[in-house]
Amino acid sequence: MAFVEIRDLSKKFGDNQVLDHIDLDIEKGQVVAIIGPSGTGKSTLIRCLNRLEKPESGSISFHDQKYDLTTKNHKEILSLRQHTEMVFQQFNLLKNKNALENIMEGLVTVKKLGKEEAREIALREIDKVGMLDRINHYPAHLSGGQQQRVAIARALSMDPELLLMDEPTSALDPELVGEVLLTIKTIAQEGNTILLVTHEMDFVRKVADRVIFLENGKIVADGTAKEIFDKPSNERLRQFLVKVKMLEGSEYNI
Ligand SMILES: Nc1ncnc2c1ncn2[C@@H]1O[C@H](COP(=O)(O)OP(=O)(O)O)[C@@H](O)[C@H]1O
Ligand SMILES: [Mg+2]
Repeated sequence: MAFVEIRDLSKKFGDNQVLDHIDLDIEKGQVVAIIGPSGTGKSTLIRCLNRLEKPESGSISFHDQKYDLTTKNHKEILSLRQHTEMVFQQFNLLKNKNALENIMEGLVTVKKLGKEEAREIALREIDKVGMLDRINHYPAHLSGGQQQRVAIARALSMDPELLLMDEPTSALDPELVGEVLLTIKTIAQEGNTILLVTHEMDFVRKVADRVIFLENGKIVADGTAKEIFDKPSNERLRQFLVKVKMLEGSEYNI
């Protein structure tokens, strides 16, 4: 059995079949990048796994614990979210709490840890993302890159089996993208299991163990970065790579 097993995940919005019976196994420590055209269901996939969207069918299993993603049971949903922490494009930090308090919040309210223990874990995690000198800063006084690093520390402090990230750098000014990508690379090297959506193809090539090309709600290609970028087996994948300038002959080359 794989570390994480996703089975038969389907989601419709009206008549729009956004996810079409997706199966996906992820091994421990794997960094899996989801790529694909806009509107193809990448965000919906990530959101269903954290039950921010309710799919029509689907399950996710961690070891011997299986969650029905269609459940409406609040306790089950909260339990699922302890396995799959999410990093959002817009950081989503609490504005009225400083960096350290943002990280402590889930540890105290969800994990029910005492303040001292929560503080210790939060300090350790914020140190890992290089923000120890900013623990008392409120989100408004942090750059987007710093906010996202705090958000990553917050997610990791909950010790999730699977870290979900939906375009974690696409809301950032270009000069701030690098520091967040470096942070993600560091946590990837520390053995965290990560499923992320990103348009940063150079980063994907360097850091992802595995790349999935999602199109029209289906996994159309699945392989190592080398296989996906250097030998795209599928014509639609090839066309996508041309568009994002990962292959020669891009119509956007100037
Ligand atoms: N809340 C929603 N209501 C209706 N349609 C939605 C909703 N969220 C996403 N969609 C539609 O689902 C499709 C996939 O969206 P999304 O998962 O955001 O794609 P991606 O992240 O790959 O750009 C799109 O056609 C989008 O318009
Ligand atoms: Mg999206």
